[in-house]
Amino acid sequence: MNKIKACIFDLDGVIVDTAKYHFKAWRRLANELGFDFSEEDNEKLKGVSRIESLQLILEWGGKTVEEEQIMVLAQQKNDWYLESIQQMNSDEILPGVHRFIKHLKKKQIKVVLGSASKNAEFILGRIGLLPLFDVLIDGNKTTKSKPDPEVFLKGAEAIGALPKHCIVFEDAEKGVEAALKGGFYTVGVGHHDVLEEAHIVIPSFEYIDYEEVLDALGSAAGSLK
Ligand code: BG6
Ligand code: MG
Repeated sequence: MNKIKACIFDLDGVIVDTAKYHFKAWRRLANELGFDFSEEDNEKLKGVSRIESLQLILEWGGKTVEEEQIMVLAQQKNDWYLESIQQMNSDEILPGVHRFIKHLKKKQIKVVLGSASKNAEFILGRIGLLPLFDVLIDGNKTTKSKPDPEVFLKGAEAIGALPKHCIVFEDAEKGVEAALKGGFYTVGVGHHDVLEEAHIVIPSFEYIDYEEVLDALGSAAGSLK
């Protein structure tokens, strides 16, 4: 059996459900620019960096803006987003996540964050999980967006583990793609139809038997190259 050294967690959609706040802020921006987009479109923004999300949204609205406007619009969206996450607290941790992370600590498995968000540290602080993380790799420490595996490779490197000894938990299609490209055992968190490429898909952390899951993940990860 392979020994798991670390679990690498995406943030948005795995630890907390922030997609609704991102959607609200992006939609407000789109509306101010004179168009709208749907919640279904918003799905395509999961795991996508702030600037790339903005570029996609502008494309959907058929808008072209000056280069310097891009930064202004991204900042405006982030200001609105920050307003809505100011009061976040531990109630917003998705079911079962806290218990699972505490279990990993007990088993001395490293807990790593691998997120595109530049607000990750703030959010982990608000929800009280920051002290449980050994390493944070976020949008401030990466230059390439998922599906590039950079964020996860940096996470593994920071704790001196090989990808095949780490498990990545992801809710976004692009995130799953990134983790697979990096050679990680990949757990999709959410719906099977969107995450079917992952090694396994769990609906949430709520009802899983941790020992059983870690054993299964460990043996399965052992078969990775
Ligand atoms: C990802 C989210 O985790 O982070 C995306 O899924 C978001 O929706 C991206 O655009 C960047 O986040 P932030 O907080 O830096 O704007
Ligand atoms: Mg996500």
